[in-house]
Amino acid sequence: MTNREIRDAYLNFFKTKLHQIVPSAPVVVKNDPTLMFTNAGMNQFKDFFLGEALPKYTRVADTQRCLRVSGKHNDLEEVGIDTYHHTLFEMLGNWSFGDYFKKEAIEWAWELLTAVYGLDQDRLYVTIFEGDTDEGLEKDVEAFEFWKQWIAEDRILLGNKKDNFWEMGETGPCGPCSEIHYDMRADEDRKLVAGQELVNADHPQVIEVWNLVFMQFNRLKNGTLESLPAKHVDTGMGFERLVRAIQGKSSNYDTDVFQPLISFISEKSGIKYGVNEKTDIAMRVLSDHIRAVSFAIADGQLPSNNKAGYVIRRILRRAVRYAYTFLNFKTPFINELVPLLAKEFEGVFDELISQQDFVQKVVLEEEVSFLRTLVAGVQRFEAYAEKNTAVDGDFAFELFDTFGFPIDLTELLAREKGLEVDMTGFQQALQVQKERSRAATAIDTGDWVFVNDEEQAEFVGYDVLTVKTEILKYRKVTAKGKEQVQFVLSVTPFYPEGGGQVGDTGVLISEETGEKIHITDTKKENGLIVHFSNQLPSQLIGIFQAKVDLQKRIDTENNHSATHLLHAALKEVLGNHVNQKGSLVNADILRFDISHFSKVTEEELKQVEDIVNAKIRENIALKENRNVPFQEALDSGVTALFGEKYGDYVRVITFGDQFSKELCGGTHVKATGQIGFFKIISESAVAAGVRRIEAITGTKAAAVIREHFDLVHKLGELLHNPKDFVVTLAKVIDENSALKKEIEKSIIEKSLALKTDLEQKIEEINGVRFLATVVDLPNAEALKTLAYALKGAIDNLFLVLGANFDGKPSIAVVVSEHLSKERGLNAGSIVRELAKEIDGGGGGQPFFATAGGKNASGLGNAIAKAKTYLD
Ligand code: ALA
Repeated sequence: MTNREIRDAYLNFFKTKLHQIVPSAPVVVKNDPTLMFTNAGMNQFKDFFLGEALPKYTRVADTQRCLRVSGKHNDLEEVGIDTYHHTLFEMLGNWSFGDYFKKEAIEWAWELLTAVYGLDQDRLYVTIFEGDTDEGLEKDVEAFEFWKQWIAEDRILLGNKKDNFWEMGETGPCGPCSEIHYDMRADEDRKLVAGQELVNADHPQVIEVWNLVFMQFNRLKNGTLESLPAKHVDTGMGFERLVRAIQGKSSNYDTDVFQPLISFISEKSGIKYGVNEKTDIAMRVLSDHIRAVSFAIADGQLPSNNKAGYVIRRILRRAVRYAYTFLNFKTPFINELVPLLAKEFEGVFDELISQQDFVQKVVLEEEVSFLRTLVAGVQRFEAYAEKNTAVDGDFAFELFDTFGFPIDLTELLAREKGLEVDMTGFQQALQVQKERSRAATAIDTGDWVFVNDEEQAEFVGYDVLTVKTEILKYRKVTAKGKEQVQFVLSVTPFYPEGGGQVGDTGVLISEETGEKIHITDTKKENGLIVHFSNQLPSQLIGIFQAKVDLQKRIDTENNHSATHLLHAALKEVLGNHVNQKGSLVNADILRFDISHFSKVTEEELKQVEDIVNAKIRENIALKENRNVPFQEALDSGVTALFGEKYGDYVRVITFGDQFSKELCGGTHVKATGQIGFFKIISESAVAAGVRRIEAITGTKAAAVIREHFDLVHKLGELLHNPKDFVVTLAKVIDENSALKKEIEKSIIEKSLALKTDLEQKIEEINGVRFLATVVDLPNAEALKTLAYALKGAIDNLFLVLGANFDGKPSIAVVVSEHLSKERGLNAGSIVRELAKEIDGGGGGQPFFATAGGKNASGLGNAIAKAKTYLD
């Protein structure tokens, strides 16, 4: 079977068992603060397990793209070194939401593996949970009994909490699980050591293929387990491993999932796969990492310097450095894998083929910039290695932190030079940094405390902005040392941040006590709408009035609707390749990122602005359809976004059937006229192939335009209201610089005239030519010119000049080099001493120094004091 056939067979099998086949969720997670990336097929169903939302189907199956590169499940360092871990992998899964349980899950798993895929029964082993006294959990006897019907008892092994109790993360749904393992060793090896001994022992040929989780609990923040309202099944089968088992290969990378990529890499590098372990690892790393990077970008996560973006950047850099070091790719190459990958996934995950050019371009730019850093880092290392006999921990950390060098690269470079790396020192430096960043971002989320035990009703804020409600539950959160409270309300008019639009703010007013609590933000967490506040009401039970901040909502709506008009106008002016890559809509501004490869020109921006303003003047009425079947919406030509997870029914926002039709959950104006006016204020680049447009609307635009008019008006007045502003101003600027030059010239002339004058006044005291006097000069530059002129003309000179620049006293001291050596006279220390007389300070060199002060009346004393240096 080819990998495509294997995937299809899985989905078809569960179709016959009455499962609904659903699409994969994006690999980038948006509404869950506990996760950055989808790490299991069940993530998108978390709400169903926790009872926070009702599923439409009680049986579903899919193939989900997953990433295990951060958090509880992190395999990154193994990837490529071994032959069966991946960054991005497909997880085949079937689910029961309160429907079937252990019996069917076990029976169907067995049937599929043995009857449909024809796996050798003699090589299969299963594990069940042995129980855990600390947690108060019993052995899973039920699972054991069901398995016994299919498989010999000595192949049913007991497993501990680590292997057989599956948890999504530190908190969340969990339960005992039963794993299915497959022994792919050669017959001779199997005779020597029984498969039982190698299950869960990290043997590369005896590997877990499928995990059946029996979801029964929710792990709370305080570590305890709480029973779920119903029992569910959550299974996950590693697709790449399954393909390997069925195709009888000894490595996932030898299957037709990876071979096309590996052959391409091998052809381009001119190095054979399967000959040398080091180059093999590099090829595996490349063929694996490009999958994670490409799908993350396609699902909306660009590489960046923080959070999820940084994880993606690190994965890509790991690939670049393997390509560079082991496969001799000194120029960008990895991006060339994107088209091949897109083709491999056509019809499975079409997100990639639809955005192939964009993804490839982003990868290319990252490669270019990291290769530059890599070369600089290697040079830095070479220079260091010349002067040192070992690599200390701090230097290894600098390479890691500044140049993005993984420690094994530093070790490798060090080994080549016969140097040791101080790993303890490196780990310490790393630890210090980790703790610093943890302290900076630490968020401590308490468990929910229930006030009312109802289900949360729907958001009503499309229609009303004030509503009577009750608090269902609350929790305390400490973020960066600040305490916050979060509420879930029975019904809410507060729009939760989403689709770029910020969350509503407003108040909760208790009908009982009249107490007013401010809602500072609203966010979605999985299916829940969470309201943020700095305060807990003194009385939690009872009716509250929830009121959205009206003006802020109106301004935000103007910007959101304008964003839709802008999106449509950009497609019209720039072309259909323009896709939304990010959006922020708040009361002040709208920011819209698009995929577009060149700068949007002034002319294009004007056209876009004109179209949007024309649509505003047309006063097009909003058409809002809240419940359109997804497919129907797509057929009608809506703009759907990549990386968004849409339900079966979607909300469609239309402004003119032929103009703007988008899938959107945000809030909007009733008719475009309300937006008033639209003005683009900037256009810039944010990343490779991504441009950012910022604009303002409504009252904000009016205010900014008024400010500009006022400014022009004031300038006009200053210039005596000229006919042609620009010509007049240019003339003024020219005149001004000509005058400045004139003045400078005359000041210098004046200084030089003074010079002749002062030369007459110099007296000779003990072989020193001395003068201390106050002169009339306009600025420091003139004073310096005069001092230098005298210094150049007269030997053995000790000169002190005082001046008063508009009330600011200043002193300059000159000591001829010869004098300062012979007589120990130092202009710097002298000026500091004299400056005390004018309440000031200064300094300089031994032969020339200056000081400024506050007290001009002290100038005379300073001058008089100068002579004492010659006593
Ligand atoms: N959620 C289970 C896993 O990821 C199936 O292994």
